[in-house]
Amino acid sequence: MREKSNFSNTLIMWYLNNQRDLPWRKSRNPFYIWLSEIILQQTRVAQGTSYYEKFIDEFNDIFALAEADETHILKLWQGLGYYSRARNLHSTAKIISNDYNGQFPETYDELIKLKGIGDYTASAIASIAFNKPHAVVDGNVYRVLSRIFGIKTAINERQGITEFKSLAEKLLDHHDPGTHNQALMEFGALVCLPKNPKCETCIFNGSCYALQHKMIDQLPLKIKKLKIRKRYFNYLVVDHEGDSTVIRKREHKDIWQNLFEFPVHETKDDIFDELAFEKFIFDELSISGPFTLKKYNQKPIIHKLTHQTLYASFWIVEPEEKLNNLTAWHDLKEHALPVLLQNFVDKYHSPN
Ligand code: ADE
Repeated sequence: MREKSNFSNTLIMWYLNNQRDLPWRKSRNPFYIWLSEIILQQTRVAQGTSYYEKFIDEFNDIFALAEADETHILKLWQGLGYYSRARNLHSTAKIISNDYNGQFPETYDELIKLKGIGDYTASAIASIAFNKPHAVVDGNVYRVLSRIFGIKTAINERQGITEFKSLAEKLLDHHDPGTHNQALMEFGALVCLPKNPKCETCIFNGSCYALQHKMIDQLPLKIKKLKIRKRYFNYLVVDHEGDSTVIRKREHKDIWQNLFEFPVHETKDDIFDELAFEKFIFDELSISGPFTLKKYNQKPIIHKLTHQTLYASFWIVEPEEKLNNLTAWHDLKEHALPVLLQNFVDKYHSPN
C-alpha cells in the first residue's frame, strides 16, 4: 500500500508540473475524452491533436456526430488509417444519442459494450471523465511499469496482459484515477521513451529496476511470434487400374525440394476453382480422353510445419487412357516422399 501511494504521488506531482497543454484536458466532458482516446489509439499526440480539433470544429456534441454522413466522418479521418475505428465512432455516437439520450454511460461495464470501446478506452473514459477506479494499460504503461518494476513477462501474451493490468490496478490512485492514468501515459510519452529515455533526469532513477540492471533496451519484453503461412495443396493422384500412379520431383526452392510428390495444384486460399483445377489436370498429365475425378478427403488434412500450415486435399483421377511416365504403387517405397504423402499412400494403397 505504501509503495502504491508513493509511486502514484511522485508520478502525479511530476505530471502536474510537466503535462502538455492538450485541448481535451481542459474539461471532463466524456465526448471529448472518448474522441481523443479513439484518435490517440491510432496516432501520437503530435499528429492526433489536429485531427481532434477538426472533429470538434465540425461536431460540437455527440448528436452532431451521430447525424453526420459516414462519408464526411471518413473524410475527416483520412490519413489516420484503420477506417473501421471511424465507422465504430459513428455507430457509437448514434447509439449514445438515440438510446442514451446523448449521455455517456458512466461505468466501465456499460462503456465496454459499445462498439470500438475495449478495455483501454472503457478504463480511460470511466476514470478521466467519471473518476471511476479503472487502470489504463497502453503501450506507454507497459513500458513504464516493466522498466521501473522489472517485469519480464511478455506483453503480447495472455499472462503478461493479465499481470500488467493487475499491477496497474494495484498502483492506481483511487482518489484521482483519471489524473493518475494520464500521468502514467504522459510519463511514458515524455520521459520513459522507447529509445533514449531520459533516465538522467527521471524521478524514478533511484529505484528503476531496468536502469539499475542495464535492461532499458530489453524491457518491455515482447515475444517474436512466427508468422505462420497457410498453404492450400490439391494433390492429383492418378490411379491407373489400381497398379500405378504419377509422381514428380519437387523442384521449387521451398519445402521438400527434391523429394517426390503427386502433381500438386497450389491455391492462395481455400476457395477451390474447379475449372482451374481441370485445366491443371489436362496440362499436367497431357490427358486427351475422358477421366473420372473423385475427392478423397472431404475435409483438408492439416499438416503443421514450423513456419507454415498446409491444408492438403487429395483428388483421385482415373483416366481411361494409359498415361506416360507411370510409376508402380509398389515402387513408391524407392522414392523419398514427404511424410504427409507417405501417410496418404499407406492409407490409400497399402500392399495388403
Ligand atoms: N495517450 C493516449 N491517451 C493519453 C492521455 N489521455 N494522456 C496522455 N497520453 C495519452
